[in-house]
Amino acid sequence: MKLPCIINEEHYRLEVPADRRVVDLLREDLGLTGTKEGCGTGECGACTVLVDGRSRLSCLTVAAQIEGRRITTIEGLADGETLHPVQQAFVDHGAVQCGFCTPGMVMTAVDLLTDHPEPDRTEITHAISGNLCRCTGYQKIIDAIDRARPSIPGPATRPTLAAADKSPVVRPMVRAATRSSRQIVLPDSCDQLWPLLAASPGARLFCGGTDLFVWLRAGRCQARLLVGLERIDELRGIGSDGDHLRIGAATTHAELLADPTIKEHLPVLHQAVAQLGSPLIRRTGTIGGNLVTASPAGDTLPPLAVLEATVELRSATANRRLSLEEFLLGPGRTDLREGEIVAAIRIPLPPPGSLHSFEKVGRRAALACSIASLAGLLDLDDDGTIRTIRLAWGSVAETVLRLPQIEAALIGQPLDDTHITAVLPAVRKLVRPISDVRAGADYRRLVAANLLRRLPTRFCSDHRLAAGRPQRP
Ligand SMILES: Cc1cc2nc3c(=O)[nH]c(=O)nc-3n(C[C@H](O)[C@H](O)[C@H](O)COP(=O)(O)OP(=O)(O)OC[C@H]3O[C@@H](n4cnc5c(N)ncnc54)[C@H](O)[C@@H]3O)c2cc1C
Ligand code: FES
Ligand code: FES
Repeated sequence: MKLPCIINEEHYRLEVPADRRVVDLLREDLGLTGTKEGCGTGECGACTVLVDGRSRLSCLTVAAQIEGRRITTIEGLADGETLHPVQQAFVDHGAVQCGFCTPGMVMTAVDLLTDHPEPDRTEITHAISGNLCRCTGYQKIIDAIDRARPSIPGPATRPTLAAADKSPVVRPMVRAATRSSRQIVLPDSCDQLWPLLAASPGARLFCGGTDLFVWLRAGRCQARLLVGLERIDELRGIGSDGDHLRIGAATTHAELLADPTIKEHLPVLHQAVAQLGSPLIRRTGTIGGNLVTASPAGDTLPPLAVLEATVELRSATANRRLSLEEFLLGPGRTDLREGEIVAAIRIPLPPPGSLHSFEKVGRRAALACSIASLAGLLDLDDDGTIRTIRLAWGSVAETVLRLPQIEAALIGQPLDDTHITAVLPAVRKLVRPISDVRAGADYRRLVAANLLRRLPTRFCSDHRLAAGRPQRP
């Protein structure tokens, strides 16, 4: 494809295969080797660049996605011989040893400080949680970002697609060494999407690509045509529809996290999304993609199950709505049909005063697939007994698991240790985990029960229940 884009303020028209990874395009075709490749699967952050001013993993981005965009790599940050303030702070504070992670760390820090010039150390730690460093130690890196803060001008205007479009001048032709027979198309609307899907049965959809591009690299997707949904505005955003919230399938996890409505009305979903992947994965990964991947470990699935969400499916000729249970058929299997997309997720608003909780146990804090997770949504009567309770576990069955027997046993009981403990043996018996690289089945049974055991404590520690006697928040 002929690809107009701006890289480090130089205007290019590249001739590259549409599925060329941006990290390869930068390093191999353009010689911009400051951008590093560590894992190639989104887990280390070494390949982070800025796309229209926002940090993005170049190993999980393909050429077609940067058409008309403005890319900044580590080579484009300094002003001649003068380092960017973040680069200078890394030098001054000894935040570099082997330097392999440094370009990615610096790009992530520049993004953070552009948006948010006054982050505290916790926010800095959180922002770089998708960037791994093997040798310096994070304290010096955090110190450097902390000290660079005052030198960054306030919230900057991020370069936009429109700015890139208008740009004139130099357009060197750069021809990539590789060829590919795979096509990638990014329609701007559903009207453009339907004819594409009709003409190409077997085309594979993607949105953020945080699952699909990993499968492509592993040879687990052979589709010749990939159709990206990220530019279709009608599939994005969060809206209210009477007593329901409607979340567009192409809404990213970062957008969900930033939305005050989600935080206020759906804390259980907000808590789950906050623990999904890393900030860099959340930047591009979407709720629709998480649903269609249908992993038993998918973090949005337990909250969507307790919220009793429905899935809106759309094709050129019909719309249908399915409950989550109808949509999810098993690991990696859904009821999505040829020519159909997930357009949105519809969620009834829980009653005000409901108690929400999501907890996941993984092998580390960021970038961890869950060993087991539990979403809970409860309503208490005035005397503190449970009026309604919905519980959904992740990673302990072929798909997200509700246990109506356990919910029924808890209704009418106080939310306390005694009554929760009484149902734990049944939980251990009813879950159906497998053993895999992350954990054994027996351990998962134990964790599934322990997550429920912790539920009253979690609400108490949130100060939503008074000591000894549960109360409404
Ligand atoms: C390093 C790393 C860490 C991760 N950590 C987590 C984690 O902690 N928890 C977790 O749950 N997930 C995690 N993931 C998985 C992934 O980020 C999520 O599942 C994400 O939500 C996928 O969304 P996407 O838009 O990137 O999907 P894509 O990769 O674009 O697509 C995934 C699948 O969904 C289909 N699809 C996408 N959108 C639609 C649509 N609207 N209609 C129909 N089909 C569609 C695609 O065809 C494909 O089959 C991680 C991934 C990586 C690489
Ligand atoms: S190379 Fe590790 S995240 Fe891209
Ligand atoms: S400085 Fe060596 S990996 Fe971070």
